[in-house]
Amino acid sequence: MFCRRWCQLVLVARNAQALQSLADDLHEKYKVASHVLTADLGRPETLKRIFNQLQSSGITIDVLVNNAGFGARGPFVALPLKRQLEMVQVNITALTQSHRIVFLPGMIAPPKKWWGA
Ligand SMILES: NC(=O)c1ccc[n+]([C@@H]2O[C@H](COP(=O)([O-])OP(=O)(O)OC[C@H]3O[C@@H](n4cnc5c(N)ncnc54)[C@H](OP(=O)(O)O)[C@@H]3O)[C@@H](O)[C@H]2O)c1
Repeated sequence: MFCRRWCQLVLVARNAQALQSLADDLHEKYKVASHVLTADLGRPETLKRIFNQLQSSGITIDVLVNNAGFGARGPFVALPLKRQLEMVQVNITALTQSHRIVFLPGMIAPPKKWWGA
């Protein structure tokens, strides 16, 4: 949908090769430019780095599509705690931070000071 409207895309995930391949496909099919950002949302410092990279490239995000996530299956008591906490970080904390702190303020109003607001 975004490609059909000639939006510029920022693609974020851990697998750089898969992202680049997707960016190449989208360019071939729709002639849209994509910025590829390799990042692990399981790491708490990642969002700040993404924000800084976008800002230094002069990119403003208008629409955020959050699909990154995973589901660890099995009995709660049997799953490794580290994996469970990573799931909370990727599926919940990174999602909340990215909306509330990194992107949403700029979508609502022009930014004055972003990080740490
Ligand atoms: N598919 C369903 O039927 C379904 C149903 C209900 C809920 N869900 C939930 O919806 C979400 C997406 O599901 P999906 O089926 O689209 O999964 P998917 O095909 O595995 O896609 C998940 C995407 O998230 C990225 N990702 C995963 N961990 C990441 C991390 N730590 N940092 C950055 N990117 C990360 C993956 O790329 P990399 O591996 O390259 O990082 C991949 O592009 C999951 O949370 C899933 O539990 C899915």
